[in-house]
Amino acid sequence: MTKGDINRQAIRKLKPGKLVIASHNAGKVREIKDLLGLYGIEPVSAADLDLPEPDETGTTFIANAELKALQAADLSGLPALADDSGLCVEALDNEPGIFSARWAGPDRDFNLAMRLVRDNLIAKGPEAGHDAHFICALALAWPDGHVEAFEGRVDGVITWPPRGSRGFGYDPIFQPNGHAISFGEMEPERKHAMSHRADAFAKMVAAVF
Ligand code: IMP
Repeated sequence: MTKGDINRQAIRKLKPGKLVIASHNAGKVREIKDLLGLYGIEPVSAADLDLPEPDETGTTFIANAELKALQAADLSGLPALADDSGLCVEALDNEPGIFSARWAGPDRDFNLAMRLVRDNLIAKGPEAGHDAHFICALALAWPDGHVEAFEGRVDGVITWPPRGSRGFGYDPIFQPNGHAISFGEMEPERKHAMSHRADAFAKMVAAVF
């Protein structure tokens, strides 16, 4: 055994069978179910099991994904997968970050949230850069408290005005690097091939299957 082997933690494999998708967001559950169908996984949604939604009290995407997955695994007695994601604008100290959903207010008004991003960037002055990235953290937890986490990222710039009506959330003001259109204008298949969620999924699939 080499020194590297001693320090390397074995990643727990996910066996075929039931997996709780610890999200009450129907869109996310659908996307995750599609991605997992290929691996002999039987997805069950947290809503189907009537599981409560925990408060997202973590200070990082990974911490929030882990607390959602651990709670669902503990309450269901099954392995559980949770996702936490958001937009980070570098000139705004990576805000809205873990508060991405909350910037849209109780009515989930993303026109308001996108305007807040733009107003905050203007307040930073003309020198402020427009670099931004989306992050997606995926956490896979087991009922014995074991958890594995994976983080995906896609880099781009904030554009104004918002463009396109595809996707959701901040997609109309995010233009991925190397592309001339926003995520809001992009075919879903194209977005899903390069998104932060796809990146996190690829890392998880490579590690646990
Ligand atoms: P969560 O449900 O707490 O993880 O909140 C994620 C929030 O981040 C969403 O409500 C969106 O505002 C934003 N977000 C995450 N991923 C995307 C994306 O792919 N496009 C646009 N907005 C996203």
